[in-house]
Formats: sequence, C-alpha cells, structure tokens
Amino acid sequence: MSSKHVLITGVAGFIGFHLAEALRKQNATVIGIDNFNDYYEVQLKKDRAQNLEKLGVTIIKADICDPGLFLDLLQKEPITHIVHLAAQAGVRYSLINPQAYIHSNIQGFLNLLEGCRHYPHIPLIYASSSSVYGNNCDIPFSVDDRTDNQASLYGVTKKTNELMACTYHHLYDIPVTGLRFFTVYGPWGRPDMAYYSFTKSIDAGIPIDVYAFDKMYRDFTYIDDIISGVIAAMDLQSPLEIFNLGNHRSESLKTLVESIEDCLGKKAILRHLPIQPGDIEVTYADIAHSQKMLHFQPATDLQTGISKFVEWYKKGGHSCH
Ligand SMILES: NC(=O)c1ccc[n+]([C@@H]2O[C@H](COP(=O)([O-])OP(=O)(O)OC[C@H]3O[C@@H](n4cnc5c(N)ncnc54)[C@H](O)[C@@H]3O)[C@@H](O)[C@H]2O)c1
Repeated sequence: MSSKHVLITGVAGFIGFHLAEALRKQNATVIGIDNFNDYYEVQLKKDRAQNLEKLGVTIIKADICDPGLFLDLLQKEPITHIVHLAAQAGVRYSLINPQAYIHSNIQGFLNLLEGCRHYPHIPLIYASSSSVYGNNCDIPFSVDDRTDNQASLYGVTKKTNELMACTYHHLYDIPVTGLRFFTVYGPWGRPDMAYYSFTKSIDAGIPIDVYAFDKMYRDFTYIDDIISGVIAAMDLQSPLEIFNLGNHRSESLKTLVESIEDCLGKKAILRHLPIQPGDIEVTYADIAHSQKMLHFQPATDLQTGISKFVEWYKKGGHSCH
C-alpha cells in the first residue's frame, strides 16, 4: 500500500488524468479538483474523470479560486503531496481571453499558496512551461538561462508562478518544485493542440493551417515520459527546484505532419500561413539537470508516440470530441 495521499488540481485535464491513473496503479490515494471549464470539449474531461472514478479517484468539481477550498481540504485530508496542474493553457488563446489566464493561473495559484502556507510540510509540485523561455535565443533551453523575455501572456503567468512559488518558499518554507513541460502529447490529449487537430483534419481530408512551416521546431514530449518526471519530482521532495521536462530533441512541424500521415495512411492538405503573434519558432529542452536530479530519461521518440496517439484516436478516442 502506497503511503502517498495526493491532491491533484486539474485532474480532468490531459496530464492530470494520466498522473492520477499512474498514481492509482501505485496504490496511492488520489483526490482531484477540476472546474470542467469549456476551453475545449467538456465531454472529454468528463470521460477522463469517469475513468478515474472507476479507479477509485475522488473528484471534486470546484474552481481553484474558491476561497477556503484548499484550507478545508488540507484540514480534512492527510495530504502528502500536492501536484498543481489546473491552469488556463494555450499560447494563442491568451491573446483572445487574457482574463482567463489571470483568473486561473495567477489568482488560482495564489489561493493554493495561501492554503499551503499553513501546511509547509507538504511538497508542492506545480506545472510551469517551456513558454517561460519566450524569445530566448540560446538553444537548448537550460534552467540556468534568463527567463525575463516572454512572448505571450501565458508565458508571463507561468513565469509569475515560478516567482510566487519561490517567494512563498522563502516566506513560509513550503517545498516547491516547478516543472517546465515541453509540448506534451499522447492518448487522451488536448484537442486544441496541433498534433490532435492535425490528426482530426488529415483523417477527415480537411486542409490544415500550418504557420511558418519550415521554421517551426518543437521538443515534443510523450505523456508517459512526463508522468515519470512528475512522479520523480514528487519523490525527490526538494525544497526549491525548477526542472525542464522535455524530450531533448527538437523536431520540425514537417516531421510531425509526416508522422501523422504515415500513421493514418493519408496525405495532409497544407495551407501555409505566417507565424502567429505570441508563437516562438523553436523549443528545445536541455534536460541535464533533470537527468542528474530526477534520473529523467525520456524514452519515446516522436514517431512511436504519434503512432500510440493515432491508435487511440482511431479506436474512437475522438468519438465525441
Ligand atoms: N500539455 C502541454 O503541452 C503543456 C505544456 C506546458 C505546460 N503545461 C501545463 O501543464 C498543466 C496541465 O496541462 P494539460 O495539458 O493537462 O491541460 P488541460 O487544459 O488538459 O488541463 C488543465 C485542467 O485544469 C482545469 N482548470 C483550468 N482552470 C481551472 C480552475 N480555475 N479551477 C479548477 N480547474 C481548472 C481544466 O478544466 C483542465 O481540465 C497546465 O498548467 C499547463 O499550463 C502543459
């Protein structure tokens, strides 16, 4: 029996779902929070939550900004770890609805930290993002690089989370670990992300919009590798840390499209467009620090990971999404 009693925020989200499932396999007790907002298909979040409930995960429908939410929960439950994944994700949407980012990513995180300050023995592991590197030109991106030149408000909120976590650590001694995720993909993934929407459109014979096709490179990281990194960070219980969780390979958008084409056995129809405001051309993670401290060793290349995603998609993973 695992002695972990984990609180996950954003449990009905892509990464939260996989983490909760993996922790249940280790027999941990898992309590999750999610507000099931409609940023993307709510049914997908409900389906994930339903699967988790069958595995014994307790799910609370609540907004992380609700006053008293965390104080009540932390008082009632013998929580050993908090993994904070709830956030308004997405770079492009932060130009359309910036308020949603301030609400969930700033106000929500503050509400959580204010709860945590009364329970400083509980390690807090929170999601940051490769977006904190913004317009940084030095690749690969190292945790030692400067991160004060974000390209989007999304990146600003994630960098602000890191500063808030660091400050609450210094003020109240809360152990805090920030994880900079690099383009996470896989089964049960997010329909707003390119690999998912491309798969859907290529399968349906609909043209796909590709922005700066020849210039875009991403460090695509398969979900199982990310979950290993998150669990390693939970087990490390470091007082104050930041880690890159990426695949340490930067792949072109062209390679992504070709991998999807191969798996579907269909050709994409491309509509070429210029780079979008807020987007950056290249992401590439230096994972030396994560390898050393977390023994983080991503094992899934893009072709293998995309074939697993497409297999899920073809089996009807996409049916109502
Ligand atoms: N997936 C990626 O490629 C990626 C990359 C970098 C960082 N991240 C970060 O990782 C975390 C998880 O990402 P994901 O891909 O699983 O996203 P996701 O959108 O699938 O999951 C986030 C979940 O949080 C919930 N949520 C949002 N605001 C909330 C609020 N105010 N109260 C309660 N619940 C709320 C949403 O309903 C959603 O289910 C996020 O913090 C995201 O910014 C993800």
